[in-house]
Amino acid sequence: MQIEERVVVLDYGSQYNLLIVRRLREVGVYAELLDPDQSWDELRRGVPIRAVILSGGPNSVYESGAPTLPKGLLEAGVPLLGICYGMQLLAKELGGQVVASTRREYGPATFRIHQASPLWQGLQENEHCWMSHGDQVFKLPSGFESLASTDTALAAMGDEKRKIYALQFHPEVTHTPSGVRILKNFVELAGCQFNWTAGNFVEASLAEIARQVGEDRVVCAISGGVDSTVAAVLVHRAIGARLTCLFVDNGLLRQDEGDQVMESLSVLGLDVRRVQAQERFLKGLAGVTDPEKKRKKIGEAFIRVFEEQVAALGEVPYLVQGTLYPDVIESGQGGHKKAHNIKTHHNVGGLPEDLKFKLVEPLRQLFKDEVRRVGRELGIDSRLLERQPFPGPGMAVRCLGEVREDRLVVLRAADAIVRYELDKLPLEGPGRRPWQYFAALLPVKSVGVQGDLRSYAEVVVVRAVYSEDAMTAQVADLDHSLLTRLATRIVNEVAGVSRVVYDITPKPPGTIEWE
Ligand code: XMP
Repeated sequence: MQIEERVVVLDYGSQYNLLIVRRLREVGVYAELLDPDQSWDELRRGVPIRAVILSGGPNSVYESGAPTLPKGLLEAGVPLLGICYGMQLLAKELGGQVVASTRREYGPATFRIHQASPLWQGLQENEHCWMSHGDQVFKLPSGFESLASTDTALAAMGDEKRKIYALQFHPEVTHTPSGVRILKNFVELAGCQFNWTAGNFVEASLAEIARQVGEDRVVCAISGGVDSTVAAVLVHRAIGARLTCLFVDNGLLRQDEGDQVMESLSVLGLDVRRVQAQERFLKGLAGVTDPEKKRKKIGEAFIRVFEEQVAALGEVPYLVQGTLYPDVIESGQGGHKKAHNIKTHHNVGGLPEDLKFKLVEPLRQLFKDEVRRVGRELGIDSRLLERQPFPGPGMAVRCLGEVREDRLVVLRAADAIVRYELDKLPLEGPGRRPWQYFAALLPVKSVGVQGDLRSYAEVVVVRAVYSEDAMTAQVADLDHSLLTRLATRIVNEVAGVSRVVYDITPKPPGTIEWE
């Protein structure tokens, strides 16, 4: 099965735009975010478009240079839904009138439905919503009816005949509880099929990978993370033994992690070669204490090892990469020209562009949660799929000061205790398991007393945070008895640690990692 149809979300710059795409995919409709600065003829190249959603954005429609509608969109006869700026743009272009409000409306509001519409299927007469706008529609374009309003503004308008609708509020945010239902109603009235499922995706992508690769061979750099694993398993399903996976063990992984990665991939039937490169990485890191230099050394060593290994494989024209949809958007590809300012990280798997591979990127349409769903569909172990984020440069950025094997031994042991104790916390409810937790080792010595003896050894930091996307993070309010157990166990069981401290810095102003 191929992707047979799509909903296009035109990006007018609102920070919530990717959320619109996610919500549609969650209800089972394939959607993508595209730049409005292209004509309808350009937009519709490829998979047929069933409906178009015009997003919100920071501009005012009468501002000079404000983004406008794609040429030919209104004549295309495709169902449209404008959201916030998208609503104002539709109103203006269809002959209505938009005015600047006397005050900006930002925050929760209630809208009252006063006209029945398929858009409102399953909603109450009064619903909560999230408003964020300065301008508003003052005069409806001809053919439109007012469908709902708040105390201060027109909340929704529609032309049922042409299937053009518009909302002043944001249905994509959780503060609009019926928002997903409204989006679903819209794509339903537009005639969309609800067939965007993990199973269908797998089927479609196996056919696509087989078509792209033909009879050639493919190589994949496996990190043990979710994305590279799911990408590799998909490619393996499509082309079998012609895929070779290289797992470069850099010696910077967590306790027993290398063995676990090998085991979970071998169970899936992949041909994985573990490249024992620990010494090489450690040699490169000798004497290096600056965080950025560490990352650079690790990146360089990875590229060198990878190149050598690939050369030994013979003729392999294709490389698998676990690129995700947000990366595609961020890099301004895929019909999307705006680069969003999202923090980028150095990944050890980041290969230079002059490596002469053709890329196979089976996850480039997916969000992280969709990758996990596809992984489950492929039968990948849930422990691997739910794995916490782990920085590409591994333990090197948690081993402050010089990265040496003797210090890594201490850090791995302390980290294993932290993970073992916090893994026991429940997934839900008060005292639920944090999103990310680990130990870091500080190059600071402190005095302690162990038995009757004075000790003088390094300090372990425990870090445990809640977060959704790592952009911000709150410190986990761990129970004191748990903190005490961590301190006691680490100092007693790990030689080379005299003291344990808990990091109480949220992000911002701190970062999650220490380097
Ligand atoms: P920070 O420390 O920036 O981390 O608050 C945010 C999230 O990203 C992870 N992280 C990295 N991941 N390469 C990665 O692949 C890196 O260099 C890197 N640095 C931080 C970190 O674990 C957290 O989840």
